[in-house]
Amino acid sequence: MLFVARISNEHASLPLSELKAVIDAEPINIRFVDRLDEYVILEGGVEDLKVLMSRLALVKEYGLLISMTSADDVATVKEFIQTYDGCVDIEYLRGFKAPYDVSSLLRTSKRWGKLKECDKVLKLVFVGGIVLIYELMAERRLSDYSDREPHKRPVYRPGTMKPLLARVYVNLARLSSLKRELLLDPFCGVAGFALEACSMGLQCICIDIDSRMVHGASINIRSYSCESLVEIVEGDAAMLSLRTLAVDGIATDPPYGRQSIPQGYTLSKLLIKFIDRAQETLKPKRYMVFAVPLNLDALITNKLERSGFEIVEKHLDWVHGALTRVIYVVRYA
Ligand SMILES: C[S@@+](CC[C@H](N)C(=O)[O-])C[C@H]1O[C@@H](n2cnc3c(N)ncnc32)[C@H](O)[C@@H]1O
Repeated sequence: MLFVARISNEHASLPLSELKAVIDAEPINIRFVDRLDEYVILEGGVEDLKVLMSRLALVKEYGLLISMTSADDVATVKEFIQTYDGCVDIEYLRGFKAPYDVSSLLRTSKRWGKLKECDKVLKLVFVGGIVLIYELMAERRLSDYSDREPHKRPVYRPGTMKPLLARVYVNLARLSSLKRELLLDPFCGVAGFALEACSMGLQCICIDIDSRMVHGASINIRSYSCESLVEIVEGDAAMLSLRTLAVDGIATDPPYGRQSIPQGYTLSKLLIKFIDRAQETLKPKRYMVFAVPLNLDALITNKLERSGFEIVEKHLDWVHGALTRVIYVVRYA
């Protein structure tokens, strides 16, 4: 079967990378076929697609692809609109218009208008001279994340990432939730990444040097009933001795020296030592995802390359006027 996944445009490169990372991570049979602007065409089975649906933060919509045709092909478009036994929704992406009056075709269709009341929706999207025709399967519900928003957790600390982005970091680290793999977050604060990992059925070890963070993380973890999947440890990410542990992936948000201050070291020294420890802790061929301020890019790139990490991707993430960070996705040799 062919599906469409409509990736969000909240960021230029992260949505597609997140999608590909989860396809890589899980033992599922989904194949990336093509990309047309915001739409990614995938091939596979419905049950496997549901695994993606349960994990991806940056896909806004999923559909069953029914047809792709030229925007000039009025006969085909008309036939789909007039014979579909549900509601029909038309969208024009980035100013691509149909070369004929689609609204008048719509008015002749069986049902149109109140999409929220429809049990079935056929979407026709005009993009780049093509019409993508698909039946809507699911839409992202931001309400699924809202109860984990930082200010809704029992313990809040400034510098905590929002759940949508925290989930993307975890997903880029390519751990399988079906295999219940083990994630490490060595700068875990009040456990934002661990909550996302837990909500996807991953195990997580959450480490922070600050006992107040560790206490807050424990309260948060308990309040979302994640105790059986998440272990919280007070410790120094530069001194981790988890050699015997061998984690399946690392996703973390180290301090940047602004809101959150590195403890025990300068930021550069802490990051260098953290990379050394990560090398000892991560299983071979597995992934680590973390971010640093852009001004440290040259130092970190050099350190990663000298430490046996392959840099798979770098994503630039503008946070505010004074902070652009680089998100690294790296694989241990
Ligand atoms: C940007 S915050 C992480 C926020 C976290 N992702 C969350 O959702 O709450 C960075 C964290 O690193 C911790 N930290 C600073 N130096 C550390 C060190 N040497 N080892 C471990 N944690 C450290 C800080 O206490 C802080 O909680």
